Amino acid sequence: MTSPADLAVASDPTPEEAQFGAIIAADGRIEPRDWMPDAYRRTLVRQISQHAHSEIIGMQPEANWITRAPSLKRKAILMAKVQDEAGHGLYLYSAAQTLGTTRDDMMDALIAGKARYSSIFNYPTPTWADMGAIGWLVDGAAICNQVPLCRASYGPYGRAMVRICKEESFHQRQGFEILLELMRGTPAQQRMAQDAVDRWYWPSLQMFGPPDDQSPNSAQSMEWNIKRFTNDELRQRFVGMLVPQAEVLGVTLPDPELRLDEASGRYVMSEIDWTEFNEVLAGRGPMNAERLKRRRDAHEDGAWVREAAAAYAAKRAVQREAAA
Ligand SMILES: [Fe+2]
Ligand SMILES: [Fe+2]
Repeated sequence: MTSPADLAVASDPTPEEAQFGAIIAADGRIEPRDWMPDAYRRTLVRQISQHAHSEIIGMQPEANWITRAPSLKRKAILMAKVQDEAGHGLYLYSAAQTLGTTRDDMMDALIAGKARYSSIFNYPTPTWADMGAIGWLVDGAAICNQVPLCRASYGPYGRAMVRICKEESFHQRQGFEILLELMRGTPAQQRMAQDAVDRWYWPSLQMFGPPDDQSPNSAQSMEWNIKRFTNDELRQRFVGMLVPQAEVLGVTLPDPELRLDEASGRYVMSEIDWTEFNEVLAGRGPMNAERLKRRRDAHEDGAWVREAAAAYAAKRAVQREAAA
């Protein structure tokens, strides 16, 4: 029930609330020093830090193949790609820090298993074709999700996304090209490519999140101009991008129901298996424990680097003070 006090708040915004509302209404940008509602800040911290964690954890399934890449050229490309993902994580941690959270807090939450990251990275990468399927499907889904985020209302997030998206489109093309080369190869290579597409197709569709009618936070994020399209709209766009590319590749998308409904212009698809998605999300996916353990070990192994960097910074500060 709405009380008179609520009505007073709704009709009488404070000057800060009015200013925030006016910026959003004009599709402008909120910057770190601007006033913002607590819920807006919390939503952004959650979303940006999850996104940063996904970039960092997402390095693992591909780093797994750097030493086994089939040629020097492939090794160089894969190393550059994995390194890009580290950079994306750093831009995003920096963007989240402008909202008042610290890098240490975010990292502690990740290695304690309390923070979420994209479930897609909890699947294994048993063959070289997985590098193709990840680039084509996972980075492809990331692009569909992230291009609209370049216009997110929070300035540091939107600007980070512009740089990230440029690199993601290279990632998608390199994945496509790996699959294309395999599909032009021997029957065994073709089978390997098709098998990887079969395994990554459904998890990549799940990257857009639950169907619109089960996505409680979407409406608010859209009102705040953080999100610009609904989960189902983005999933449709993604499938629309994949269908002609699958034809060029000569791979089959593993959904017998998939077809374009001419009347609505929308793709008809089979039901997504959300039980599996929820299992992985709950930490019971094939690789959850291993991904976290690897991240935790890397953090501990890197302690001496952080200590050395902090000692150097302290020494420099003393020198600067003496000079001043
Ligand atoms: Fe990335
Ligand atoms: Fe990427």
